[in-house]
Amino acid sequence: MSETEQQSPGENMRKVFVKTYGCQMNVYDSDRMADALARDGYQTTDKPEDADLLLLNTCHIREKAAEKVYSELGRIRQLKQARAEQGRDMMVGVAGCVAQAEGQEIIRRAPIVDLVIGPQTYHLLPQAVARARGGEKVVETEYAIEDKFDHLPQAEKKVIASRGVTAFLTVQEGCDKFCTFCVVPYTRGSEVSRPVEQIVAEAQGLVEAGVREITLLGQNVNAWHGEGPDNREWGLGELLRRLAEIDGLERLRYTTSHPRDMDDALIGAHRDLGKLMPYLHLPVQAGSDAVLKAMNRRHTADDYLRLVERIRSARPDIALSGDFIVGFPGESDADFEDTLRLIETVRYAQAFSFKYSPRPGTPGAEREDQVAEDVKSQRLERLQALLRKQQTDFAQSCVGTEIDLLLEKPGKLPGQLIGRSPWLQPVIVDANSSQIGEIIRVRITQAGANSLFAEPLRADIGSVTV
Ligand code: SAH
Ligand code: SF4
Ligand code: F3S
Repeated sequence: MSETEQQSPGENMRKVFVKTYGCQMNVYDSDRMADALARDGYQTTDKPEDADLLLLNTCHIREKAAEKVYSELGRIRQLKQARAEQGRDMMVGVAGCVAQAEGQEIIRRAPIVDLVIGPQTYHLLPQAVARARGGEKVVETEYAIEDKFDHLPQAEKKVIASRGVTAFLTVQEGCDKFCTFCVVPYTRGSEVSRPVEQIVAEAQGLVEAGVREITLLGQNVNAWHGEGPDNREWGLGELLRRLAEIDGLERLRYTTSHPRDMDDALIGAHRDLGKLMPYLHLPVQAGSDAVLKAMNRRHTADDYLRLVERIRSARPDIALSGDFIVGFPGESDADFEDTLRLIETVRYAQAFSFKYSPRPGTPGAEREDQVAEDVKSQRLERLQALLRKQQTDFAQSCVGTEIDLLLEKPGKLPGQLIGRSPWLQPVIVDANSSQIGEIIRVRITQAGANSLFAEPLRADIGSVTV
């Protein structure tokens, strides 16, 4: 039995509640913060009212995302007050990209905040919390010189196991691309790639704890170029080949990729590695060359289409997903039609689309030719109707096919489990909860609004009823 198990949940067992906004990298970071605090005796709770420390891990990507933080802080103020009336303290921390972008300003607008900590400094979190507990208002947003990944601990096996059979693993952080709409290069800093051995060790630890699928994360994951054990610089294709050698690791994914960084080695990995799932999130943002140029994406629509062809000839069953922005400054009706045409050509399995949101400090926000809100809304509606149709068509095309399904977690109804198809769609199947973590062969029988339904194939039916 470990030390923490022996400890009775007495007075000195503090509780932390972490609420996560934004992208998968924040999901990963929230777990890392919880792991760092676990060493100081903090246990995670899913009840904010029980928290001695409440952390918001925030996103700054669009205005609405950032404003959510302040409305949440309003609610937390009441929670904190209710706890104070019972003589219990609650420390409030803001982490993530809003913390990095706004720093001290957060405490000015929301004085209940005790601690502001940016994504590059999470390894300093335990010390920062200790200082805040001493009464200091802490703002920790300076980029630390040490690499935080050298200092952030990996969770205990039982904690990893409790998080499920799929896991995220950040291999790259930050961005040097400076798309003119985007805050990420300012909030996450410049690109940093973790070395191969560090990544392999973390992956191995996850697999030993029962993880079967790992998604490698990075703001620009395919720009990853880390130091290999042979002192050479490796690319993502080579890293995926190395990770595919880990016994017990059955599935690999990665996200998010930039079209400029899809090299031959990575496309070759899609051709050769059975463990690498045939799904690729490859945002293009817009289909007009003028808009792509103004966005500083540094490729044309045609470059993107040719790239998609190369990827599809290497891995014909690959499903593509994308991100789109409508109403970037200067986008004309004709530009927007180009985006629709590109979507028609590519045929996406899934996509995320947004109205352009001017972000402070980015070149796009300075432009005078902003697109009117109602025009953005109309364009978004048309774009989403097309993408929805493509998503439904893709789901329908899956009906009748046989796939391997990694069983991840219980479904809504008893006797059901949920897994993901190779193309990342949720799949619901009748199976026994003891099978979580297994990969079974199923046939897709039906496509619902957001998920697929499947039946286990004969060989697996036996194991369901055992
Ligand atoms: N690194 C990824 C994207 C990260 S941000 C890439 O290069 O593709 C996730 C998505 O949010 C982007 O792909 C973009 O579609 C959207 N986004 C970013 N900034 C935005 C803004 N200012 N307004 C609207 N959408 C934005
Ligand atoms: Fe933002 Fe562009 Fe970097 Fe993606 S590549 S994170 S959109 S600046
Ligand atoms: Fe948001 Fe930061 Fe991720 S701005 S999308 S949480 S990198």
